[in-house]
Amino acid sequence: MKTETPKGRQIREQILRLTEEYYHTEHIKAPYKDGDTINYGGRIYDEKELLNLVNSSLDFWLTTGPWTEKFEADFCNFLGIQHCSVVNSGSSANLLAFMALTSPKLKNRRILPNDEVITVAAGFPTTVTPIIQYGAVPIFVDITLPTYNIDVDMLEAALSSKTKAVMIAHTLGNPFDIKAIKDFCNSHNLWLIEDNCDTLGAKYFLNGKWQYTGTFGDIATSSFYPPHHITMGEGGAVYTNSSELYRIVNSLRDWGRDCWCPSGHDNTCNCRFAQQFGELPLGYDHKYVYSHFGYNLKATDMQAAIGCAQLEKLPAFIEERRKNWQYLADNLKTREDYFILPEATGNSIPSWFGFMLTIKKDAPFTRDDIVRHLENNKIQTRTLFAGNIIKHPCFDEMRSTQTGYKTIGTLLNTDLVMQNSFWVGVYPGMNQAKLDKIIRILLTAAKVE
Ligand SMILES: Cc1ncc(COP(=O)(O)O)c(C=O)c1O
Repeated sequence: MKTETPKGRQIREQILRLTEEYYHTEHIKAPYKDGDTINYGGRIYDEKELLNLVNSSLDFWLTTGPWTEKFEADFCNFLGIQHCSVVNSGSSANLLAFMALTSPKLKNRRILPNDEVITVAAGFPTTVTPIIQYGAVPIFVDITLPTYNIDVDMLEAALSSKTKAVMIAHTLGNPFDIKAIKDFCNSHNLWLIEDNCDTLGAKYFLNGKWQYTGTFGDIATSSFYPPHHITMGEGGAVYTNSSELYRIVNSLRDWGRDCWCPSGHDNTCNCRFAQQFGELPLGYDHKYVYSHFGYNLKATDMQAAIGCAQLEKLPAFIEERRKNWQYLADNLKTREDYFILPEATGNSIPSWFGFMLTIKKDAPFTRDDIVRHLENNKIQTRTLFAGNIIKHPCFDEMRSTQTGYKTIGTLLNTDLVMQNSFWVGVYPGMNQAKLDKIIRILLTAAKVE
């Protein structure tokens, strides 16, 4: 990627040889033995990630650069989508995806403050946060079990003349009912933002073909935080088939600028000093013209370099996740008297993030009993993130004044999930011994073994 002297090349090769040796000396984990912690997720990597990281650090590009361009191109290629912008987290990706739809460039389709956005309360906070931060109004509807996704029967009731968008996540690797959501959005001219942070690689069958989640809506997001399907440490992506939204996302990501030159490049448009913007003098340097009130949410090239190595492993990671999920499903199905087991959404092939369990109301034990027993046996568990975001302290003020959000119908399933659900890992770091232990401890905790 970088032109270097023969001596420099030689030193680089030496460093890379040593890096590989270091990986094999320091990074290979001892095989799992009973009593070790069973994580719910984590980074899975080999020497290739380390080599890319060291390689990019020697290039010393630091900011978004050649590795980022490669990652974006490879990611688009994998998903079959036209544009991808790497950012520094999945939360930043959600912020950008949402804020892109508030751009004045979208004229009367832009989301304005006080407009309404249909979403769910069961999930990760930063799917909802950008709506509130901007001053739009989240309209919460319930989810359905056992897919843990939005209850599409509530959509029409949630609609008003102020509705501009649906912004929801595919829950824990399981696609939402894309057909119903797409039909709803199309018939009411609404934007669809897919939070694909936990579901990279899931597929859905629509209009006679299989397509990856994240390619159905107007814009979609991914997270590359360590437990996710692939990691950059910190990192995320916003992707879309719309050239217009892509340009807006990049503008907002890069300080709000109008110029689209990549970092380290000037005058890509060939008219850097020849245009008229706002009330600026004619020919004001395009590099410093701001068409949005933006942020700086770029990632570094070193993060992208790690992502490039991870992306090559993604198909195998997805398969591992499916296999592990299926093993848990097969071995726990005898206990459907006490547990609600997860189910794939119709017409989908999920790319599971975790294995969700909900304790039935009449079971002779509580979630607390089970989770404590698992954790005491060093098996990590997680809730469905916020459970019900409205119940959190960040909502205290809005809840007490009943302003800034609305709830349509009851959120009975959302509350059930908040009280009775938890999940365990299916990530590629699992193996049969770990899965067997999860099953055994779970069943003894439920006093059914
Ligand atoms: C559904 C969902 N959206 C967004 C995020 C935020 O991603 P990040 O942690 O990279 O900010 C997460 C994090 O796990 C998530 O689960």
